[in-house]
Amino acid sequence: MKIAFNKSKLIKFIQNEKNLGFVPTMGALHLGHISLIKKASQQCDKTIVSIFINKPQFNKKDDFTKYPRLLKKDISILKKLKVDYLYIPSTKQIYPNGYNKKIKISSFGKNLCGKFRPGHFEAVVDVVARFLKIIKPNKIYLGKKDMQQLKIIEHFVKKKQINTKVVGCKTIREKNGVAFSSRNFLLSPKERIIASRVYKFLLNKKSHIIKNNISIKKIKNYFFKISVDKVDYIKILDVNKIIKPYKKNPMYKIFIAYYLGTTRLIDNI
Ligand code: PAJ
Repeated sequence: MKIAFNKSKLIKFIQNEKNLGFVPTMGALHLGHISLIKKASQQCDKTIVSIFINKPQFNKKDDFTKYPRLLKKDISILKKLKVDYLYIPSTKQIYPNGYNKKIKISSFGKNLCGKFRPGHFEAVVDVVARFLKIIKPNKIYLGKKDMQQLKIIEHFVKKKQINTKVVGCKTIREKNGVAFSSRNFLLSPKERIIASRVYKFLLNKKSHIIKNNISIKKIKNYFFKISVDKVDYIKILDVNKIIKPYKKNPMYKIFIAYYLGTTRLIDNI
């Protein structure tokens, strides 16, 4: 595995690649990331992973400072997976002239997490656009666990006519049902059990919730009873009608963002 800490070295490594799959990450790698990497390796001749904790996409300073940093372990995981290239840029490499404050994203960016984390998706799109410009991959692999992020990036790539195919990959879950997330490293054993109960409740009641047989208020009350600390939102959306062109067949998902202690978790079921 070739590791590049700066742009010019990276470009030297990859300039002749014709079928490159890209997996952007913020590190603290888990089986969710690994499934994206495996898919990229299957579908592309060469795979490139980036590890970059993108500060502007964190709304709270505390969330950024607490974010797990496990670079040594990450590198050994990526070596074992036989990833071809790893890019670990510095903030200066990515933002030589600061952030792009004028970036325009889909109006869906104002919904769900966008409401509670103003500027978050603009910062995500800004950094992904910068990576795409440097790497010019044939395909970019993103997880459906972050469905809103996936849809917004898909929209941006299309609108800007960027020559990269966006591949959405299924959510990988722990045995207890909780979606793998780097933030799970911050959960106590008790909080993991609560997260599992949240998932199982939404999964078991999904058809009732979609039919509106259970009110959102009732769901929230149950979650508070099992010691969820805060719920940002619980929303039902047809993912096929989020961004145009709409697909015919509806695909309803329950979107949730909630807190266990100070850790914010998101999922869609
Ligand atoms: P990060 O949270 O590290 O996630 C990197 C990629 O892994 C994202 O596409 C995310 O959707 C995917 N992923 C995370 N958990 C997953 C799971 N349980 N199953 C399947 N895929 C999963 O998302 C980001 O980083 C950043 O916002 C980034 C796109 C890198 C921009 O900074």
